Order: sequence, then C-alpha cells, then structure tokens
Amino acid sequence: MEKGRLCSPGKKISYNIISVNCAAMFTIKDHLEIRNNHLVIGGADTTVLAEQFGTPLYVTNESRVISNFSAYRTAFPDAHIYYAAKANGSFAILRMLARQGAGADVFSFGELYMALLAGIPPQKILFNGNSKTDFELQKAVEIGIKVSVDSLDELHTLSKIADSLGKIVEIAFRVNPDVSPKTHPKISTGLKTSKFGIPSGEVVDAYKEADKLGGITPGGIHCHIGSQILDTAPFTEATQKMMDLVEKITGIGINLKFVDMGSGLGIPYEKGIKVPTPREHAKAILPVFEERTRALGISPKLILEPGRFIVGDTTILLTRVNTVKKAAKNFVGVDAGFNLLVRPAMYDSYHHVVVANNVKSQGEDTYTIVGPICETGDIFAKDRTLPQIEKNDILALLDAGAYGFSMSSQYNGRPRCAEVLVKDGEADIIRSREDFEVLLNGQKLPARLM
Ligand code: LLP
Repeated sequence: MEKGRLCSPGKKISYNIISVNCAAMFTIKDHLEIRNNHLVIGGADTTVLAEQFGTPLYVTNESRVISNFSAYRTAFPDAHIYYAAKANGSFAILRMLARQGAGADVFSFGELYMALLAGIPPQKILFNGNSKTDFELQKAVEIGIKVSVDSLDELHTLSKIADSLGKIVEIAFRVNPDVSPKTHPKISTGLKTSKFGIPSGEVVDAYKEADKLGGITPGGIHCHIGSQILDTAPFTEATQKMMDLVEKITGIGINLKFVDMGSGLGIPYEKGIKVPTPREHAKAILPVFEERTRALGISPKLILEPGRFIVGDTTILLTRVNTVKKAAKNFVGVDAGFNLLVRPAMYDSYHHVVVANNVKSQGEDTYTIVGPICETGDIFAKDRTLPQIEKNDILALLDAGAYGFSMSSQYNGRPRCAEVLVKDGEADIIRSREDFEVLLNGQKLPARLM
C-alpha cells in the first residue's frame, strides 16, 4: 500500500499486530485506527496531534479508559474496584475514574492527595505501602481512610497515632502469600522473599495483636501478588491461601468486612501473547471466594486494585525521529528517552512501535529505536521490522498508559512532555509540557556561590 492510499472496501490486510478492515477507517488493536495511512487514536490523527502539541507527547483515548473500567466492573459486579493510582496518576484520568465510581489504591500521601482532589471518596481509598512515614499514617487516620498494614512495627506506630488523635482506623494486613505470579522478578510482589507484607504463618497472630490495640479495628485482609500476570492459576492459588487465612481469622472472632485481592492482570503488549480477560480473572477468584465465604457464613466485600488493565492500552507515546544512523544496527534516534517511558530499559518490556505517519503493512528494514539519553540502555525497541524510517517521521509507542508518565523523570536535563486526552476527534491538553525553567524548581544557591 502506498503512502496515503486507501485500499478498496472489504479487503483485509494483515499488519504486524494490526488487523486492517478496509473501510473508510481501519482498526488497530480495537481502539486505534488508520486513516489515510496515518495512525488515529480517539478519532484524532496522530500526525496532526504531533504538529499541534509537539513531541514527545502522551496521548490518551478517553473512551478506552472508560470501557476498560466498565469491563472490570462487569466482570466483578459485586466487588469494589480501587484503581491503582500509581499506574497513571494524571489528574484527568483520576477524575474520569472517580466519576465512574472507582475507588483508589494509593501508595503515598501524594497519591492520596490527588485521589481526594479528583473526587474519590475517602471510604473508597486504601492506603498501601511497605514503608509509610508517620506523617502519611497520621494523614490516613485524620482523613479516615483504610490502611493496609505491612508489619507489626507499623501496626504499633499506627495504633499510637490513632490513639493520640482519639480516632479508630480500619486496617487490613498485607499478606505475603508466597505465590509465584510467573512474571518479571521486578514486579513479583507475593514471593516469600519479597519486601511486601507479613508472612502467611504470622498473620493470625497479627490480627490477635491488632484486636487488642487501641485506635485499631481490623476490618479486612489484603494481598497483591504481582503485575503483568498472564496466567490465572496464581490468582486462584492466592485466593485459596487468603480464604484459608480468612477462615482462621473468623475463627478467632474477627469479622472481616473486606478481602482485597490486589490485581496484576496483564495486557497483550506483544502480538500472539494470550492474556486472561477480566472475566477470566473473575473466574479464577470468584468461585473460591464465594464458596468459602458462604461456607463460613460471612459476607465480606471483595476489593480489586487494577491499574495496568484500566489504562495500559489507552495511551500512546508519540515521538519524532531526530536522526537515522546506519552503524552495527540501523539506529533511529527519537526525541523521547527512558526519562519518559522507562519500562523497556527497566524491565526489558516490549512496546509495539508504529510509524504513525506511514502505517504500512510491510516492514522494509530492521531498526533499533533509541532515545537521546546518555545511557546505552536507552532503547525502546530492538531490531524491529518497520517501514522505511526518515528524519521527522513520527513514531508511536503503543500501550504506554500504565507506568509510563507516572514513572517519568527529568534525567539528563529533559523537562517532561505534555499529555493530551482525545475523544471523538477532539484533543485537550491535560498536562502542559514542562519548560526548561522547571529544571531549577526549588533549587537555591548558598550565599557563597552567588
Ligand atoms: N495493588 C498494589 C498493592 C500494587 O502494588 C499494584 C502495582 C497494583 C495494585 C496494580 O497492579 P496492576 O493491575 O497495574 O498490575 N512499573 C511496573 C509495574 C509495577 C506494579 C506495582 N504495583 C511496570 O511497568 O510493569
């Protein structure tokens, strides 16, 4: 297919991961389309967005966030969905999810602050974290949110803080269930050796202790085994282990009001990878949860904390080609670096690359896409077969909505990029591009250096 030419209606062209139905608008990965050989997101032509807002640029499809959230809610109709704010803490996204009735899993006071500002009610927030400051615990108590307690040490600190404020805080213990999620080691969180949670064998005693302490009411139990999980068996194993604990805790006279199973559902970053759907995730958890609660005669609420599934595939990172160099490899130097999307450098993650201004079916050469950061590991994609790439082409890194902007930095003196939200072909800036003055933010010179 030539640049800019449409194919005749009804014809099907198979792209790398792109299935193109030749009508006026073609489809890539459900919510991405091709129009006039350009990549289109939320009805907006990405090459126009790049011109209008500059690059690098994060672009999020609003409708996709909503439909992903709905898919989760439909799969778990009786559960509370606490969106994991760490995945993408952009204010507009938190606001959209608040309006959908989402709660929040927050991991810092900063995330709590943003979630509250976005309109998520305190009753629907759980404060997670393995190393919270006294300030954070105090804020949680003052605001009246639930706290997932990660150690006995933290339990005692929290009890003292709550007592001194004359308040009662509802807690869950974060359990380390010793379950392998079969995912990347850096995002496996429920292994015996992981830093998170209390070993299963010590959990019942922890509840006994919590029950005696002032300022504390043990209200729930919590675990989270990892992220980008592609197999449902670990979810079932974790639910069984958690329900064994629920049985023991019920046996000592504590009536748990919620069981929080965390999240971790993966998304298909790469072609051909089979990932469970939210419904399959539900099938792995609900039968065990429902049968065991029925047998015990209790009715705790189930909580889930999805992050990646809600936002991962909603967003692309647009980046402009600065330079193409033939060396040991065909290096394509782009204007985004790992300061904006660290996942490939940090976890060797795959993100699909599309030449947004020339979405051709056939690759023409093999390219390695690299950023401008002074680090050898600043590589987005290795040896990808892509259409001919030239200076000023616009590349799109797909599935960049989870742990993309939220893990960004200004490394190498690079202000962060802008973010836009698109819906029905309209684009709104939801975060301005940082200007260079931001690099001086908060910095001061001692008098002797003036
Ligand atoms: N709940 C807790 C307690 C968590 O620690 C996490 C993620 C989540 C929920 C949400 O998990 P999700 O549904 O997104 O898998 N930066 C890594 C992922 C780190 C996940 C941290 N915890 C990445 O880019 O793959």
